[in-house]
Amino acid sequence: MSRLPTLLVTGGMGLIGSHLLRLTGRWQSHATWYNRPPDTAVSHAAWHQLDITDPAAVDALVAALRPHAIIHTAYQFNTPDMERVIVDGTRHIATAAAAVGARLIHLSTDVVFDGRRGWYREIDTPNPLHAYGRAKVHSEIEVRDLTPNAVIARTSLVYDLDPPDGRSQWVIDGGRGQADVTLFTDERRCPIYAPDLAAALLELAANDCHGLLHVAGPEALSRYDFGVLLCRAVGAPTNGLKAAAAAASGLTRPLDCTLDTALAQRVLRTPLRPVTAVVAAPRAGIAQR
Ligand SMILES: NC(=O)c1ccc[n+]([C@@H]2O[C@H](COP(=O)([O-])OP(=O)(O)OC[C@H]3O[C@@H](n4cnc5c(N)ncnc54)[C@H](OP(=O)(O)O)[C@@H]3O)[C@@H](O)[C@H]2O)c1
Repeated sequence: MSRLPTLLVTGGMGLIGSHLLRLTGRWQSHATWYNRPPDTAVSHAAWHQLDITDPAAVDALVAALRPHAIIHTAYQFNTPDMERVIVDGTRHIATAAAAVGARLIHLSTDVVFDGRRGWYREIDTPNPLHAYGRAKVHSEIEVRDLTPNAVIARTSLVYDLDPPDGRSQWVIDGGRGQADVTLFTDERRCPIYAPDLAAALLELAANDCHGLLHVAGPEALSRYDFGVLLCRAVGAPTNGLKAAAAAASGLTRPLDCTLDTALAQRVLRTPLRPVTAVVAAPRAGIAQR
């Protein structure tokens, strides 16, 4: 029998979940899927189909596995079920984690802030402008109240390069003139490389930090400048990208949601690299879709 601690990753087929499962060598890993059946050859995890909006199913799985830690990435964005999945689903996960004493690492977002000033610290008060941010704030409250020893890891734009994730690929296609891509020059974020974020989350699963933590890249980039770097990372042209000001778009958007990551940099050994460093670093292979 394995003596490795047990880890449960919700949303194992997602961007962050799939990176977590590539790095779980020191864990006996289990992962959940919802709509996308896993390719079991790709990961050593044991897979479980789960709808986190079903409290009995969540309780049954967590009670059966009794994981040491749960990294909760499952969510939906801009769907009719978004609030139910983010708020109720997270409550179910936190309740089940508390019942078995599992350590919970919950993913949240920089858009819990209104983006009016930037470089937000963990002590700053959220003021989300949209339903997604509001749902995430509610989910944070559920986690804080039900599992006081949990970590709530707020992150920013998550990207992958080998191969690029769907959103990054769309931007790269825009640079090549194969998609109509307009990026804002006045909307600033702290993008984080998916493998760096996954390593940081696994480190948190194994340590005893608790509370809010801003886990993002250290570098503030506009969406446009980030797009240019993504194109350069794969050797694609950038001249197809169009630039625009969000402030002039008539849309209500959180502009500067940069996160102050000083606390994370103090408590984590995992480096949270700036995009410029990731792009400049040699990678095993640059796969392009
Ligand atoms: N990606 C970013 O840039 C970013 C930025 C800030 C914060 N975050 C946070 O990071 C977390 C993960 O993001 P991600 O980009 O990895 O997400 P993702 O790629 O969209 O994956 C989300 C996963 O949630 C699963 N899911 C959806 N509804 C479910 C349900 N009812 N029950 C169980 N599972 C369900 C999906 O499973 P199936 O695929 O099997 O259907 C999917 O794999 C989220 O909490 C998000 O708020 C992400």
